[in-house]
Amino acid sequence: MPATPSSNPTTPAAFSAVAPYYDHLMSGVPYRFWIAYVERLWKKHSLAPKSVLDLACGTGTVTRMLAQRGYVTAGVDLSGPMIAIARERATEENFSIPFYEQDAADMDLGVSRFDAVISLFDSLNNILEDDRLQSAFRRMHDHLNPGGSFIFDVNTEFALEQGMFNQSCSRKDEPLHYRWRSRYNSETRICTVSMTFSYDSGTGERETFKETHIQKGYAKDEITRWLKEAGFATVTVYDGYSTDPPRKRSDRLFYVAVK
Ligand SMILES: C[S@@+](CC[C@H](N)C(=O)[O-])C[C@H]1O[C@@H](n2cnc3c(N)ncnc32)[C@H](O)[C@@H]1O
Repeated sequence: MPATPSSNPTTPAAFSAVAPYYDHLMSGVPYRFWIAYVERLWKKHSLAPKSVLDLACGTGTVTRMLAQRGYVTAGVDLSGPMIAIARERATEENFSIPFYEQDAADMDLGVSRFDAVISLFDSLNNILEDDRLQSAFRRMHDHLNPGGSFIFDVNTEFALEQGMFNQSCSRKDEPLHYRWRSRYNSETRICTVSMTFSYDSGTGERETFKETHIQKGYAKDEITRWLKEAGFATVTVYDGYSTDPPRKRSDRLFYVAVK
């Protein structure tokens, strides 16, 4: 899901209006499978992290699941409303997890260092400027222990071109309706998604809100180069949720960068 644009794409306005509905929207997302896949990648690369930073953690579902599995976790997200929900949920479920409202590109968690950073669900496509993405890679490298890993997934340019964000739901039994329409500019590699939501809290009256979200498509070679420039010793790229190499028509790629 892409971030809300603004004149400065890194303002904390991203994911504000949609935040209270985010977990409902994601109720079909196979987070457990995603975590199992990340653990498989760690194992494949002979990594056994004990502490994990969940970058662009949203409402913290993955952060809490990792804590449940015994990892020491923390979460970072640009959106104040998403972080507020992450904190609420963690308190409700008796987790003691620090959540920070910060931009990946400027992230500074003081002396905290982690064995691993992960960032799931194409969150990094929401960084729209090359230099900001490069800066995010440097910030993650700086927050890793020696030998630490950074695993993240991105939507490919191919995926954004395919109009994957053209989605809608208007089922009668569903309180949250939405209609998303996307446009992709192959020159700028920018995908703009106009989103309309309406929610019926049970009164029969629908409350409507809109967000325009934007993602940028990045090429495999440029991401790999920037990770290496940030100091990562090795970078391996996989076709999404597999251990196969990327294909021409891969819609999601996973990067494993090791410090
Ligand atoms: C699709 S959500 C994914 C959230 C979570 N990882 C998940 O899997 O549910 C994308 C998240 O990226 C966050 N985000 C976007 N740009 C960011 C940035 N520059 N720094 C940190 N977080 C960012 C948004 O606020 C949003 O919570």
